Parts: sequence; C-alpha cells; structure tokens
Amino acid sequence: MKIQKHILGNREGWDLMSDEYQANSEISLEDVHYSPLSFGEKTANLIGDITGKEYVELGCGGAQNSIALAKSGANVTAVDLSSNQLSHASSTCEKLGISVNLLQANMQSLNYFPDNKFDGILSVFALEFIEDIDIFFSESNRILKKGGVLIISTTHPLGAFEWDSEANNLSVTDYFNPPIEIWREQGQSNPGVTYFRTIEELFSKISENGFTVKKLMEPKPLGPNNENSSPYKGSYWTEFRDRLHSVPFAVVIKAIKG
Ligand SMILES: C[S@@+](CC[C@H](N)C(=O)[O-])C[C@H]1O[C@@H](n2cnc3c(N)ncnc32)[C@H](O)[C@@H]1O
Repeated sequence: MKIQKHILGNREGWDLMSDEYQANSEISLEDVHYSPLSFGEKTANLIGDITGKEYVELGCGGAQNSIALAKSGANVTAVDLSSNQLSHASSTCEKLGISVNLLQANMQSLNYFPDNKFDGILSVFALEFIEDIDIFFSESNRILKKGGVLIISTTHPLGAFEWDSEANNLSVTDYFNPPIEIWREQGQSNPGVTYFRTIEELFSKISENGFTVKKLMEPKPLGPNNENSSPYKGSYWTEFRDRLHSVPFAVVIKAIKG
C-alpha cells in the first residue's frame, strides 16, 4: 500500500524532533498526562481500575503514558510512527524493567489488530496528525471489546490560531474552518501536517462511529504554586504559559463502545 505523503512527513518530522521533545519535556512515568502544565489521570479519574486489562496507546511517543498504565497493572501495547520516539520508549522501559509491547505502525488504520482485542484505547496529542478521523474512530471501535473505553486528548481547535504574545491574546480568523498547519523541521524533506477539528466535529465523528461520549474536558493549567505537580511540564511548555492560561490547549474526551 502506498504511504500517504503527510504520513511520511509526520514520521520524518517526529524522528527529527524526538530528542529535543524528550529532553525538554518532563513527562511523568507515574500518572497519565492529558494537557501541558495541567492535572493528569490521578485527578481526572477517567480510566479507573485497569488491573489485568488490555490497553493500547496510539501515538505513544516516548511511551510515558503506557508505562504509567503498565505500572497500574494493565497489559499495554504502544504504537507510534517514529522510530526515534520508539527508541526513547524502549530505553525507558528497559531502564525501569517495565514490559510494554512497542509497535512501529500508522495509527490511522488499525488493521494490524484483530476485532475486540482491547479493553481500552488511550491517545494523547496524536489524533491531530491523522487525516481521516472517520477511519480512525471506526477502527478504534472495531478493536475494542463491547463496553471498552476510548480516551482521546487532542489539540484544541483554538490551537490552530496565532497567539499575540505582546497583546496577550489570540487572533481567531475563522473558528468554523480551522486552518491545517503544514510544518517542516530543519532538513525535513516531506512536510508534516497537523489537522485541527472543532469540538462539534470531534463529538460527531466519535458518536457516529458507535461510541457514547461520557465526558469532555478542556483542562486548565494548574496555578503557579501547583504547576510542578503536573505530569506534563518542562521548558518545552513553560514558554507557552500565558497562552495556556488563557486558551485551552487540549480537548479530552472519554467515550464508551456500545
Ligand atoms: C506530540 S507527540 C505525543 C507523544 C505522546 N503521546 C506524548 O503525549 O508525549 C505525537 C506523536 O504521535 C506520533 N504520530 C504522528 N502521526 C502518527 C501516526 N499516523 N501513527 C502513529 N503515530 C503517529 C508521532 O510520531 C509522535 O510520537
């Protein structure tokens, strides 16, 4: 099958960005993160008891969330497109003696997994790199058991717009048609693509593909005195602090199959 150009670009881009992203983000291995400088699963309580459950993380990056899930007792498979992100994941797992099944694959179509395999799917800041979310949600439904849980954190639609750091405000041109971002790291041949979706589009696509949405959150960052307790922080994020405090960065959705 021909690999779409933007998939090649996103893979190349993440291979190039991986070392810097991992060095400048401080990502917890104890708590699942959903949004920068904000609270994680220990506060959000979306996942509950996962002892002995089969979980898959899609777009796992350095697999910190997968490691946190594995520490909570789940059997975890972690999928990512980028071999450099996966080599960070594999060295962390090895260092900690934690077993996570790492897989290099495209998460748009999940045809490498059988039907009804998983109790839960987690995907944090990866859906925005997928062009066709209809295929993604229908495939997610197929690989989940009945009653299985889908937890998605993805870039908020307002993330598509420019922040004016002098005026401390956001220039929203057309919320209803958020622009697609085409990006290139230095030395990258195929461009990467980031897609933004309105909340209505996300909600509709999830519901139309056989899920019931149970919870939707736009997490605020923690206050300055608590920021250190966030499971997702570091210099990669602190430069965006003003923006993060004014405009949601993530939309987090919990949905159930069936
Ligand atoms: C912003 S990082 C997030 C990584 C991790 N979830 C985290 O929160 O740290 C996005 C990840 O999605 C991966 N990715 C992008 N497109 C993908 C695709 N089509 N299939 C699988 N992974 C993809 C990238 O390689 C990258 O590791």
